[in-house]
Amino acid sequence: MSLNPLILSIDQGTTSSRAILFEKNGQSRFTAQLEFRQIFPQSGWVEHDPEEIWSTTLSVTREAIAASKNMGRPIASIGITNQRETTVVWERGSGKPIYNAIVWQDRRTAAQCNQLKQEGHEQTVKDKTGLLLDPYFSGTKIAWILDNVAGARDKANQGDLAFGTVDSFLLWRLTHGTQHTTDATNAARTLLFNIHTNRWDEELLSLLNVPSSVLPEVKDCSAQFGQTSKALLGESLPICGMAGDQQAAAFGQACFQTGMTKSTYGTGCFVLINTGETPIASNNRLLTTVGYRLNGETSYATEGSIFVAGAAIQWLRDGLGLIKSAEETEAIAQTTEHNQGVYMIPAFTGLGAPHWDADARGALFGLTRGTGIKEIVRATLESVCYQTNDLFCAMTDDGIHPTHLRVDGGMVRNDWLCQFLTDILEITVQRPMQTETTALGAAYLAGLQCGVYDSFEDLEDNWVEEATFSPSMDQDLRLELIHGWDKAIRRVRSDYQ
Ligand code: G3P
Repeated sequence: MSLNPLILSIDQGTTSSRAILFEKNGQSRFTAQLEFRQIFPQSGWVEHDPEEIWSTTLSVTREAIAASKNMGRPIASIGITNQRETTVVWERGSGKPIYNAIVWQDRRTAAQCNQLKQEGHEQTVKDKTGLLLDPYFSGTKIAWILDNVAGARDKANQGDLAFGTVDSFLLWRLTHGTQHTTDATNAARTLLFNIHTNRWDEELLSLLNVPSSVLPEVKDCSAQFGQTSKALLGESLPICGMAGDQQAAAFGQACFQTGMTKSTYGTGCFVLINTGETPIASNNRLLTTVGYRLNGETSYATEGSIFVAGAAIQWLRDGLGLIKSAEETEAIAQTTEHNQGVYMIPAFTGLGAPHWDADARGALFGLTRGTGIKEIVRATLESVCYQTNDLFCAMTDDGIHPTHLRVDGGMVRNDWLCQFLTDILEITVQRPMQTETTALGAAYLAGLQCGVYDSFEDLEDNWVEEATFSPSMDQDLRLELIHGWDKAIRRVRSDYQ
């Protein structure tokens, strides 16, 4: 291999596509980012145009390759990480999607999920996939596309259609339609993949009415996924790493030991705790999922998934115009002494773990004539911490007791948020130097495959703490705040009387 190569990470997220060049030591050297449209055709529906996902990804990837050339540095390999569960179905012949990507936040298949639950199928699904019957996952979204696009089911039965989560769709496009593959972490989010046997599951395929002809091959997270098309990128680069964004973030945070826990604050918030070679079934509606799979060996994780975290701040900015930038929220929160009893429940697309209430919707509580922008901003930041606490309470009840939490994602640059989080959780919160851990994790997976890294120790050595936050809130105040949150969240639930 040439001297001093960089690793290129493609991070296709819910709101933007990014390409980042990483040094072997985990420092980023170049970032290109492009946002794309969020499409809300009906209440509870969220779509992306797959061509925009593709064109933004292609542009940022080209920019990163040009930057590496300017630096005179070769690219050793590419890692891909992605918004998980988001579902694309395309024609194998033309490569064209037959419908918009149905985004993970989309609730349109809630009725099908409820029906399957009523028929008593949830336990089977949980036992095999570690997931629950919720519209969040890909399985019912695939069936919806096949049943709602004219002629799609016939075409699928004839083998003319391909399904992929975004990783798989991008791989197909980057390799000029030669590779239809995903990795075990993404497969584990479809409701169709048995995480114990590591295979697509015939019983689940028939339950959800998805033909096996549309499915991609499933590989380890570090593997030879294919070469990029020279015609597209000017050179043929090996794609050697792939993982869903939350698993990639845990990998980038070097959470390799059992019990290590990370929480990523992006569009949503996702807490993953490494449970090693043992999949732990939750009694509190947390998910059991594949943390990573290397050399055919699965390391499992327990996951708590919150659908809206950073997206609530984005809503304050773009929906309400209360703030001009997300960065402002830290200074605004610092000017408040107390939340004044104001609670914001950002259940814009229902509630995820541990409530799993697809029909809940958001609300603001405790408004008085004195409530202003700063109280609403503070309540929105607080909501992210209370939701994380709900996950930790569920984990505690499952007998999981993390003592430290490694945080990452755009929101954790906000010191006020990190302090409030440690206060509410009552555990130490650690922020690393490199908070772009999702992209870093994909780079690590690619680097392990192509020989830039030899072992986990190389990656652990790269993890450097930038700040630690320790709990200091008065216990009575903490309990009063949590009590207020509990009351508010009860009132948005669809079963509230
Ligand atoms: O499961 C959805 C998740 O992968 C989306 O992540 O970073 O867009 O909040 P993010």
